[in-house]
Amino acid sequence: MGRTVVTILLMTLTVFASDMNVYERNCVECHKKLPVSLDKFFFNYLLKYSSERRVKQALRNYLKHPRKKASLATEELVARYGLMPKTTLSDKELKEAIDIYWEKYKVFGKIE
Ligand code: HEC
Repeated sequence: MGRTVVTILLMTLTVFASDMNVYERNCVECHKKLPVSLDKFFFNYLLKYSSERRVKQALRNYLKHPRKKASLATEELVARYGLMPKTTLSDKELKEAIDIYWEKYKVFGKIE
């Protein structure tokens, strides 16, 4: 009984403590260990897929099924860090994370 209360308290605290969104919590947390920044990856996707719809679709596919063949990362990076692990986010969270990622960097698309 006491333990349940403590668990619930801890969970509530965690929720309050993290005003980080799903993108920061998931994508940024792991990516900050990598030498290639998320903005560089975004730029590659934008160059290759150009429209919002196609970029988001390609990102969703890659995050759900990372494959060497589909990867835009360099051989060296993949050899050193491996492919990105398949996402553990739900479809809803993944969509949210990709939307935030897009909103954050889409300004690159205006450098024409
Ligand atoms: C547990 C670690 C981890 C998490 C979580 C993670 N990534 Fe990655 N990501 C990697 C690694 C390692 C690579 C480089 C290898 C590769 O490209 O698969 C990568 C590559 C990428 C690439 C380039 C893909 C390509 O074409 O090769 C994009 C874009 C990307 N991540 C976006 C995201 C976004 C958006 C999220 C959050 C929804 C996310 N990542 C979550 C580790 C992670």
